[in-house]
Amino acid sequence: MIDQYGRTIDYLRISVTDRCNLRCKYCMPDGIESVPMQQILTFEEIRTVAQAAAANGIRHIKLTGGEPLVRKGLPGLVRILKSIDGIDKVTLTTNGVLLGLFLPELIEAGLDAVNISLDTTDRRTYKEITGSDELGTVLSSLHIAQELGMRVKVNAVSLDLGDDNIRSLIAIAKENPIDVRFIEMMPIGYGRNYETVNHRDLYRKLETMYSGIMIDEREHGFGPAVYYKIPGYRGSIGLISAIHGKFCGTCNRVRLTSQGYLKTCLCFSDGVDLRAILRESAEGTDVDKALRDAIREAVMHKPGEHCFDKPEEITEEAGMNAIGG
Ligand code: GTP
Ligand code: 5AD
Ligand code: SF4
Repeated sequence: MIDQYGRTIDYLRISVTDRCNLRCKYCMPDGIESVPMQQILTFEEIRTVAQAAAANGIRHIKLTGGEPLVRKGLPGLVRILKSIDGIDKVTLTTNGVLLGLFLPELIEAGLDAVNISLDTTDRRTYKEITGSDELGTVLSSLHIAQELGMRVKVNAVSLDLGDDNIRSLIAIAKENPIDVRFIEMMPIGYGRNYETVNHRDLYRKLETMYSGIMIDEREHGFGPAVYYKIPGYRGSIGLISAIHGKFCGTCNRVRLTSQGYLKTCLCFSDGVDLRAILRESAEGTDVDKALRDAIREAVMHKPGEHCFDKPEEITEEAGMNAIGG
């Protein structure tokens, strides 16, 4: 699909649940009100939406949450999505706690790559951020993923935890072919309570810490990260700089919430309720066609850029756990 600004939209992020087994302080520190399962799209409904999206030109799917692996049977969904004509890659973004457990099934189902959220390698700080003592489990998932040949990237939200924290995260990329990405905090949900680390400053810091760091033009995924290589390191360093390195001009994606709302930009509530089309269409309606038309129409009206620099214009009220990042 091509939107009104000429951008090709071929990447769909699907949040399969708002729930999570962690309580990251910038995301859902107090948990969430649980949504009755009946309001969440079934895997069959997700398949129907993904087929319509693929017919419109979606090629890559990212599964997110909340924490996607708390949804029962997730490897089955990966298998379903991988079997859809036109879908090339299906990838997963997870906090890693349950990943070690499910990896064999996920690989078997055809999962192409995994991103693991990890903001620190210090056990005490990890507990302060996530409310849980699962650092060891996450690190072990990371190593299992690697050993099983899965492509892995680490996602660290930039939290100003000091140079040692940056060093210890980047060290993961030294010995392993794992990309380590830093993410500027976005003012969505509890993220509004935090000031964003400016990635221009972070990059200047990296230049002083790692001599010879240089741009890495190779493709590492389908997201907005800009990558850099450090001589002698097996993995690359990625910067996702939504605030100080706005990438909306090359945006390629839309998002499906677990309740079946197709969101066209992180910053705004614009979009279309696909669950209503799936469940409430009049008898005799060609639901597949109605979905294809609704998706194309929504994409056509996709906002040109986010407005994170003007918080009063943000219309998205849902938290990051409901949007899927
Ligand atoms: P890959 O590189 O293909 O793995 O995808 P990705 O980087 O898009 O995936 P991931 O789910 O790991 O997202 C990493 C971060 O990028 C999250 O914090 C997302 O919220 C952020 N992100 C992804 N897409 C967008 C976007 O369209 N706009 C903004 N502002 N942030 C985004
Ligand atoms: N800003 C930026 N990234 C966020 N994430 C969660 N909340 C925010 C926020 N407000 C990250 C998670 C995960 C990814 C999907 O999004 O840590 O790595
Ligand atoms: Fe869970 Fe991810 Fe939100 Fe942390 S950021 S609470 S891991 S959904």
